[in-house]
Amino acid sequence: MPLNRLTLMPEGVGIDLPQGSPLTGIENKTSEPLIPFGCRSGACGACVVEVLAGSDALGETDPDEADFLEDLGWTEGNYRLACQCSLWDSATIRVVAS
Ligand code: FES
Repeated sequence: MPLNRLTLMPEGVGIDLPQGSPLTGIENKTSEPLIPFGCRSGACGACVVEVLAGSDALGETDPDEADFLEDLGWTEGNYRLACQCSLWDSATIRVVAS
């Protein structure tokens, strides 16, 4: 299965995941929590990331995800809940929530 690279800024850490893997898969790749996942079900807002490149690579934004991001105030720019994304190509993100 092909690997795709997820790059986390500003550190520039690159993690390779099998195509289509949920972003929660990075937890198995490093000992450090690169993205602060909480509920892993799109309900807590702990994992908000800004997509800097490759937004198409992260799959479609579900309407419930979009509504929740709006509730959290992340309406300007290109924000996603990392726990609701899968990696289908290379992408670059920045963690904004903690
Ligand atoms: S981990 Fe809770 S919304 Fe993503």
